[in-house]
Amino acid sequence: FEGMTILELAKRTGASIGSLQEIMKNVGEKVDSEFDPISVDVAELVAMEVGVNVRRLHSDEGAVLQPRAPVVTVMGHVDHGKTSLLDALRQTSVAAKEAGGITQHLGAFVVDMPSGASITFLDTPGHAAFSAMRARGAAVTDIVVLVVAADDGVMPQTLEAISHAKAASVPIVVAINKCDKPSADPQRVRIQLGSEGLPLEDLGGDVQVVEVSATSKIGLDKLEEALLLQAEMMDLKARIDGPAQAYVVEARLDRGRGPLATAIVKSGTLLCGQHIVVGAAWGRIRTIRDMVGRATESGRPAMPVEIEGLKGLPMAGDDVTVVGSEERARMLSAGRKKKLEKDRLHKASEMTIDIPDASE
Ligand code: GTP
Ligand code: MG
Repeated sequence: FEGMTILELAKRTGASIGSLQEIMKNVGEKVDSEFDPISVDVAELVAMEVGVNVRRLHSDEGAVLQPRAPVVTVMGHVDHGKTSLLDALRQTSVAAKEAGGITQHLGAFVVDMPSGASITFLDTPGHAAFSAMRARGAAVTDIVVLVVAADDGVMPQTLEAISHAKAASVPIVVAINKCDKPSADPQRVRIQLGSEGLPLEDLGGDVQVVEVSATSKIGLDKLEEALLLQAEMMDLKARIDGPAQAYVVEARLDRGRGPLATAIVKSGTLLCGQHIVVGAAWGRIRTIRDMVGRATESGRPAMPVEIEGLKGLPMAGDDVTVVGSEERARMLSAGRKKKLEKDRLHKASEMTIDIPDASE
């Protein structure tokens, strides 16, 4: 597939060739014929101008793929102990104690195992209001850890988490938490989950179940083992070379350093100095930090990184797109802002088209 043409864009958006060419002129792009290839950035801009959303499709066809760490998202009902469990996992990691290899930056952190393997963890809130965040968490992850409190059992957001994981075709590992409590009844949780259609391994299925206690630090090694086993079966690989695709898990404004985005690199390598568009924000990467806060040259697949150098604040869920120049970055950012504003006013366009990103 050799990128986009105005003709193709006209077909997909339903706009006329003439109107699309007019828009190209307005954004300062020269266009000779509707058969000429146009860049993915320009295609996105023009599509946005006619009110159509664009999702970039990336192809790793022909690229060299290398093994990468699993990204694991922790989900479950409110107060079932997701954050406590992650805290406990961090503290008990031998590698962390020895090398200080772990830091949590709110949503994302990496646990290095004594074996040399590492796991990238994402926390999600269990409150009912954060459904969108859980859906995004499931979409970006390799494995979902479903935390169910042994005393409370299966609750509405437990079921919601299961359906997000299923919708995203992500395997689940169940962690039955709070097993230290006298009122804990892990067997009841198993039966509940089984009747909700989760094929648990104890019952002949393939979903691993581990009994844990975050506060008493029971079963944490078993949980890590289960995750590594699941990851091993999935044979996770990513393209290392070429422009990065990354996904924002959180963004905040720091008084001294400006807008900061925490992103997980999906493929390729993110480099300092690159021009990027992140949602509607743009910038040039000034500093990349790992989750320990160390400045690094680059961000590689499965690595959560903190990006400094954006001119505006992106949103969780935004994609990080590397573009060739500051001009492109500004242009795309302006186009996306305008589109967002238009959508806010009209709330009309729900149309999205997929276009191949041939710039890689
Ligand atoms: P949200 O992020 O709000 O959805 O909650 P969460 O799932 O992250 O729960 P969190 O880790 O904040 O824990 C909620 C409460 O349960 C806290 O008071 C924890 O101390 C307690 N808790 C968590 N894990 C355990 C456990 O294994 N045993 C006992 N007894 N209490 C636990
Ligand atoms: Mg929490």
